[in-house]
Amino acid sequence: MKIDICYTPELIHQFDVSDKCVVVIDVLRATSCMVAGLGSGVKSIKPVATVEECEALGQQGYIMAGERGGKKLEQFDIGNSPFDYMQTSLKGKDIAATTTNGTRAIDLSKEAPEVIIGAFLNLSAVVDYLKSQERDILLFCAGWKGKYNLEDSLFAGAVCDGLKKTADFDSDGVTAAFYLYESMQKDLFYYISRSNHAARLSKFGIMKDIEYCSRTDEFSVLPRLKNEVLTVSS
Ligand code: MLT
Repeated sequence: MKIDICYTPELIHQFDVSDKCVVVIDVLRATSCMVAGLGSGVKSIKPVATVEECEALGQQGYIMAGERGGKKLEQFDIGNSPFDYMQTSLKGKDIAATTTNGTRAIDLSKEAPEVIIGAFLNLSAVVDYLKSQERDILLFCAGWKGKYNLEDSLFAGAVCDGLKKTADFDSDGVTAAFYLYESMQKDLFYYISRSNHAARLSKFGIMKDIEYCSRTDEFSVLPRLKNEVLTVSS
């Protein structure tokens, strides 16, 4: 089994996802929200690329969730905070979500036979699952508006660390992510809070989201995309 990494959606054209297990990663905060929501009893999450698609689903009874530039959209029911997704009132509900980078990366992964959702919040569930399956793996970092970001690369490195005895590192990008994680793993919150996106989010006063998204293994769920909808099997 081989493992490779795509650092931003702008580079996805360089990869053939048609036979891969793709792990979509947006630690701050889209994939952390998906793990927190589905791990707290949300029934399903339908990721969509645009605000208009999300609003149309809102008309059909979905809870509308998301952000642009990190800020909740006024007309939406909830924003893009894991604490929004963990509200008890959302148990059993179907959510439609659109975010700046995370849902775009999911959208760009649709041709893959398997798409799963990763964040530090479900790191072990991701690693255990990847060990148990046989496809080559693509770690797909959502980044920020087409650029590299620290927190997604760090999580990709954590997955590489978990798979170092199982998978062949297929590029220098993978080796780089592995050593990045090796050097920063002792204080993930410290390093993640120094990322560009953490600075952006702290302007909105949401350091608690950054701290929460830096936690490891709060949930054991593995969100999977089936028919364009994310669910977890219990
Ligand atoms: C994204 O998809 O870009 C985000 O998760 C941004 C955020 O809400 O922090």
